Amino acid sequence: MTASIAPLTVALPKGRVLRAVAPLLSRAGADVAALLADDRTLVRESVAAGLRFLLLKPDDVPTYVEYGAADLGVCGRDVLLERTADVYCPLDLKVGVCRMVVAGIVGRPPPAGVPRVGTKYPHIAAEHFARRGVQADVIYLQGSVELAPIVGLSDVIVDLVETGETLVQNGLEVREEVVRVSSVLVANRAAYKLRQDRIMPFVEALRRAVNGG
Ligand code: PRP
Repeated sequence: MTASIAPLTVALPKGRVLRAVAPLLSRAGADVAALLADDRTLVRESVAAGLRFLLLKPDDVPTYVEYGAADLGVCGRDVLLERTADVYCPLDLKVGVCRMVVAGIVGRPPPAGVPRVGTKYPHIAAEHFARRGVQADVIYLQGSVELAPIVGLSDVIVDLVETGETLVQNGLEVREEVVRVSSVLVANRAAYKLRQDRIMPFVEALRRAVNGG
């Protein structure tokens, strides 16, 4: 077997984004039945298309791609903004579209002193407030971030909003938009050059799928 016929390895995030990306992969020629099978295997093959999928926690996708354990990957722009990874980013997949926002308790005025900010994205949050010249005390949380202002752990949160339902159900409102987010295709820099013959047709097929082709 030569390197040129080794499967392309694509790192994918488990969960919501995987279900959104699967139709694009299917239109780009992948057999997604194995990919979507409800089992615990972490490596899924689409043999005829020459693709191998790795199922990962979203935050780990850039790591697998940067170190070359995967040729390509799919991850949210939020993940790339939070921790820089040396990967190439050839295509916006236009799925997983949401907003990173500052949110607080409905009607509650901003605190008089330094605001405390609960977030899963300490780097993005710190940069946002620094850009605006506002000193902020950023508190790192791993999830259920909306709870923090309810119980007084923080004044506001910086978090992703998709439908807005989680904010509404917890009595929170958007104060500012930080950045718009969607899922993007990332590529290992060396593989993108050395495996061009395999990668480019797949990227172009995905591009057509994204554009409705
Ligand atoms: C994300 C995000 C919000 C929620 C927003 O959380 O952090 O909490 O989804 O979605 P909505 O606007 O459609 O309600 P996730 O579901 O990943 O869980 P987590 O809170 O445990 O991080």
